[in-house]
Amino acid sequence: MTESKPISASRIQISQLMHLEHANLLGNVHGGWIMKLVDEAGALACMRHAQCKVVTVAIDSMTFRNPIRIGDLVILNAEVSYTGRTSMETEVKVTAENPITGEQTLTNTAYLVYVALDDHGKPQPVPPLLAETKAQKERMEQAKARQQYRLAQK
Ligand SMILES: CC(C)(COP(=O)(O)OP(=O)(O)OC[C@H]1O[C@@H](n2cnc3c(N)ncnc32)[C@H](O)[C@@H]1OP(=O)(O)O)[C@@H](O)C(=O)NCCC(=O)NCCS
Repeated sequence: MTESKPISASRIQISQLMHLEHANLLGNVHGGWIMKLVDEAGALACMRHAQCKVVTVAIDSMTFRNPIRIGDLVILNAEVSYTGRTSMETEVKVTAENPITGEQTLTNTAYLVYVALDDHGKPQPVPPLLAETKAQKERMEQAKARQQYRLAQK
């Protein structure tokens, strides 16, 4: 049995400045760019946890609560929130920062599921996730319920 790993070991942060090339027709940031960055951040957290290649198998619905402006720094914080046998859920939080004023706005939180793959592209077991605090334990239970719901929808 692979040794369990703490949530903190998977934690990653990536940031990207939003340029004109990221704009939608309204002049704000195109949601598709954010979705791509969210997927990358989630995959990186899973790769850190499982230390192998991963593929996205499911993305929960995403709600953009505030527009992100061109010139903002987009900051994505991701960590593994649940592990099954070969699957991992990640929580990705997206924050937009005005680099001049330093004002930060949480624009959305996304949940994605990835599957760890072996060298032949087949699902392989991942280390169990270790919750180190009561809050982490509770969040892991919530993540487990989300995964059960996803599988029931299949
Ligand atoms: C991901 C993939 C390898 C899984 O293959 P599979 O034959 O369905 O494998 P399994 O049935 O053993 O499922 C693997 C894990 O995924 C989970 N899973 C499968 N479908 C799921 C779904 N819709 N939502 C959440 N988890 C799902 C299973 O529960 C299982 O998890 P567990 O081992 O922790 O219990 C395969 O579906 C695939 O290659 N999909 C395409 C992935 C891809 O290309 N992504 C990028 C999109 S461009």
